[in-house]
Amino acid sequence: MMTKELGKTGVYLPEIGMGTWNYRADPGPSRRGFEAGALFIDTAESYGTDHIVGEALKGFRQHVFVATKVSPQNFSRSRLCVSVDSILKRLGLDTIDLLQLHGPNPAIAIKETMDALAEVVNAGKVKFVGVSNFSVVQLIAARRAFHLYSAVSNHLRYNLIDRTIEKDLLPYCKAHHITVIAHSPLARGLDRLQDCDPQGVLANLSRSMGKSPAQIAINWCLCKEGVVAIPKSNSEAHILENCAASDWRLSADRLRGLDSVIRYCHRGRFDTLARLWMPDRLMPFVRRVVNSLPRGIRRRLR
Ligand SMILES: NC(=O)c1ccc[n+]([C@@H]2O[C@H](COP(=O)([O-])OP(=O)(O)OC[C@H]3O[C@@H](n4cnc5c(N)ncnc54)[C@H](OP(=O)(O)O)[C@@H]3O)[C@@H](O)[C@H]2O)c1
Repeated sequence: MMTKELGKTGVYLPEIGMGTWNYRADPGPSRRGFEAGALFIDTAESYGTDHIVGEALKGFRQHVFVATKVSPQNFSRSRLCVSVDSILKRLGLDTIDLLQLHGPNPAIAIKETMDALAEVVNAGKVKFVGVSNFSVVQLIAARRAFHLYSAVSNHLRYNLIDRTIEKDLLPYCKAHHITVIAHSPLARGLDRLQDCDPQGVLANLSRSMGKSPAQIAINWCLCKEGVVAIPKSNSEAHILENCAASDWRLSADRLRGLDSVIRYCHRGRFDTLARLWMPDRLMPFVRRVVNSLPRGIRRRLR
């Protein structure tokens, strides 16, 4: 498994990790993933998967980079410190490798949150600090408030059909050595990628390269400097397939082919905010409605 440096920390991450949002399997598939080189796992206090991640880590802890996220409602100093203790307890760990702010919270001054993060770093409970779903402006504010340690990563949605971050976030992160952890690198399901691929370029490439469509989609993310990806799967077979999306690169010609044929969007600010603030419980309903629409409309809404 190829690695990439986390920010300018000198720590190298496997370029493919495992996401755990909606992870419904037992620890087995994640453990097979560790054995296949995905020694990087991402969870969050809101996912409800800490106990299973903790189980999976038994016997692997010293080799695995563990990233988690604190929820925006816990960004005040007192709540953040309590959250970190609870996360450590649920995971059964002494230290979190990367603690990320799960999304911006304008109701709490970023300085207060960053001071609380400094406290948990100084206490040895957290090694590195990152953010998630922060815009460039929010990232600059966070870095100003946290000059001592600096945010080393931004966890962002990035895949073949959602290239919103290419406008400003990706260049900013690259220029400031902030690792982009690409979430939803499979666009939350291959059917969504296929909706945006009317000429079947992914299937054709898959046949000619002997790589699966998922591997090509993940590798497309990894071809970008400073980007690592964390696909999620409940299935051992998919996890092993995803791990094999490393150690090779799509050629420039093939990247151009994908970029010119697959339809992608750059989301506007309103769209991004609506997705960020939509309550989790509404998501299955919204997804069902979108899935029932004709392909052309569906594609615009994804
Ligand atoms: N910070 C944030 O705000 C945020 C937001 C979203 C996600 N995330 C993180 O990013 C992770 C990944 O994103 P995601 O879960 O949204 O979506 P994703 O990884 O893009 O897609 C997951 C879907 O793809 C399927 N899949 C996985 N590997 C496959 C393969 N090789 N072939 C075919 N299908 C495959 C999975 O089904 P099976 O399980 O059946 O394989 C699942 O339905 C999350 O788990 C979470 O850790 C973070």
